[in-house]
Amino acid sequence: MKLAVLISGRGSNLQSLIDACRQPDFPAEIAVVVSNRPQAAGLERARRAGIKAEIVDHTAFATRDAFDDALSACVAKAGADLVCLAGFMRLLGDKFVDRWRDRVINIHPSLLPAFRGLDVHQRVIDAGVRVSGCTVHFVRSSVDDGPIVIQAAVPVLPGDTANVLAARVLAVEHRIYPAAVRMIASGQARIDGGKVVISGRVEAASPLINPLTDEG
Ligand code: GRF
Repeated sequence: MKLAVLISGRGSNLQSLIDACRQPDFPAEIAVVVSNRPQAAGLERARRAGIKAEIVDHTAFATRDAFDDALSACVAKAGADLVCLAGFMRLLGDKFVDRWRDRVINIHPSLLPAFRGLDVHQRVIDAGVRVSGCTVHFVRSSVDDGPIVIQAAVPVLPGDTANVLAARVLAVEHRIYPAAVRMIASGQARIDGGKVVISGRVEAASPLINPLTDEG
């Protein structure tokens, strides 16, 4: 399966996909990396890995539609089967989402549907929840919405700042994004009736209890 990875910034999730694709048994390869920001550090990661890196600068387009069309053309030209949003900070219009329906996935640093949108980790801390996490999901036209492929839980610890929590969650993002791509590319995960169905044996890690008490 050929991937297009869309980025806007540092590209650490892109890096996790680059690293996964280097494994001989990984069922996907990155055909193109596209950034809407010319300065995105992730572009350098792509170039270093010998992957085609393109810029589709949103500021060069008068309308969202025109930007979406250019983005679509760039992804299609590379022959991509699956679009992976990895810290891509532009909302995609209905036209793009419809054209690539069930072929766009995103990673979000919370346990969706909780804490959609921006500034997630500060809002998680302010809400006082004990468990946060991350989600890979198929993209629909509303923000951070769509069939969920995989989620991981991460504890929120006393004294956490948004940055500390973000780093703890990010380390787990780097595990679940390649895992989600593997499941989709191998055909193990597919959309059915608006949800992701996973075939074969499914194993989950033991529950995360936070704080862990004597009874737990
Ligand atoms: C990640 O936390 C991801 O979940 C969110 O944006 C951040 C991107 O980080 N959508 P990076 O550019 O992949 O390092």
